[in-house]
Amino acid sequence: MHFITLLPLGLAGLASAQMSLTQVLASQNSTLSTLNSLLATQPQLAAMLASAKDITLLAPSNAAFAKFVEEPANQMAASDPATLMGVLQYHVLQTTVPASGFTTTMQFLPTMLGATTSNSSMNTMNMTTMMSDVTGGQVVGGVVMGEKVELMSGLKSMSTVQTADIMFTGGVMHIIDTVLTVPSPPSTSALDSQLTALAGALKSANLLTAVDDLKDVTIFAPSNKAFQNIGSATPMLTEQQLSGILEYHVINGTVGYSSLLTTGLANESFPTLAGGNVMVEAVNGKVFINSAMVTITDIIVSNGVLHVIDNVLNPANSTAMPNPTATQQAVAFAGAAAASNVPFTSGIIAPTTAASASTSKAGAGRARESGVGAVGVVALFGMMGAAIL
Ligand SMILES: *[C@@H]1O[C@H](CO)[C@@H](O)[C@H](O)[C@H]1NC(C)=O
Ligand SMILES: *[C@@H]1O[C@H](CO)[C@@H](O)[C@H](O)[C@H]1NC(C)=O
Ligand SMILES: *[C@@H]1O[C@H](CO)[C@@H](O)[C@H](O)[C@H]1NC(C)=O
Ligand SMILES: *[C@@H]1O[C@H](CO)[C@@H](O)[C@H](O)[C@H]1NC(C)=O
Ligand SMILES: *[C@@H]1O[C@H](CO)[C@@H](O)[C@H](O)[C@H]1NC(C)=O
Ligand SMILES: *[C@@H]1O[C@H](CO)[C@@H](O)[C@H](O)[C@H]1NC(C)=O
Repeated sequence: MHFITLLPLGLAGLASAQMSLTQVLASQNSTLSTLNSLLATQPQLAAMLASAKDITLLAPSNAAFAKFVEEPANQMAASDPATLMGVLQYHVLQTTVPASGFTTTMQFLPTMLGATTSNSSMNTMNMTTMMSDVTGGQVVGGVVMGEKVELMSGLKSMSTVQTADIMFTGGVMHIIDTVLTVPSPPSTSALDSQLTALAGALKSANLLTAVDDLKDVTIFAPSNKAFQNIGSATPMLTEQQLSGILEYHVINGTVGYSSLLTTGLANESFPTLAGGNVMVEAVNGKVFINSAMVTITDIIVSNGVLHVIDNVLNPANSTAMPNPTATQQAVAFAGAAAASNVPFTSGIIAPTTAASASTSKAGAGRARESGVGAVGVVALFGMMGAAIL
């Protein structure tokens, strides 16, 4: 594993070890005046942060907030106190992570968003707990890429640390160039990631709300191509059969980020919502779910994580095994053939600006390098993302 050290910016890092967060924020006011003014509208959060121990504040620069409010939906959100509270809480990690604590393997770090705090006044009107349904708090991915520390948030949006290691008595602050994208529910995340067949199939099976309302999930999301490859079989499915197939793609009660799939959870089987088990297998840097290969990892969603796979899983074929050397696995439904159209997509419109996760080349454990950040903010808040109901 490769560790790097980012030098603290001049005097800020050296002089501030004994400074409080409030003092450090004031000393960086030329870069952080927007954050300072937003915190001023949230006195409870500001007071809580000021007295917190062992945290990391990911502080968006003024330029980051200027980019953020270019989106009308974000302007609306920023003017809603409870939503703003959630956005700010998502920028606070629950541990102190200096730049040297990040590695080239992505780590998933719990934030204050959705974490149950002993101070109930922090969960204002239950709003912020509604923005996340991940036990222990919604996560941000942190990884070293080249010489930079990058943070990955909803829809694989990337934020880059510009100034690292500004120490204060309660922890460390890193200044970032892009506001983190608060993860949205699976249904909106699927649409925004161009997984229109999955979104349409969930809608056909009346499962959108049921999946969005779960807590702590891992969702294996077949790509549009995967659905198309069994397109001859899908028109024959009853709603009940389709439900069974889709529920077989959801692990309820375990959030399996890529870091877990390739280590702690690898080569184990997991019970799905449909009842039957799926096998997670890590071979030569690839991850397979039964015989389907994970092609895009770690789309963080409001209630867990979603990984894109290249094959639709068949609950009646749970022993299907991958051929790790093949570029395309055989379909798991005997006799099914490709159709000319992508099934379930009639009337399902993905936002044209959304991240095209289905064309991403990102492999297991790697974040996408670019291209998503600018569009991820469109769907920053689940309730303002594309509606398909
Ligand atoms: C930060 O700068 C803004 C203007 O750029 C000013 O209004 C505000 O009072 C300053 N805040 C602090 C804490 O210095
Ligand atoms: C809860 O937070 C408020 C505002 O920061 C603070 O005044 C209060 O003392 C805190 N209560 C507890 C129990 O920590
Ligand atoms: C918050 O949720 C709890 C139960 O989930 C409920 O009893 C309480 O009334 C809610 N508070 C507000 C302010 O909505
Ligand atoms: C999901 O898991 C939770 C916690 O184990 C359980 O309470 C809930 O009933 C499960 N949901 C479904 C649909 O199986
Ligand atoms: C999982 O099993 C494969 C063989 O099927 C083995 O090569 C690999 O090392 C195992 N991975 C872990 C993390 O145990
Ligand atoms: C199970 O999947 C394999 C491919 O992994 C396929 O060859 C086989 O036909 C499938 N069996 C059934 C019963 O669908």
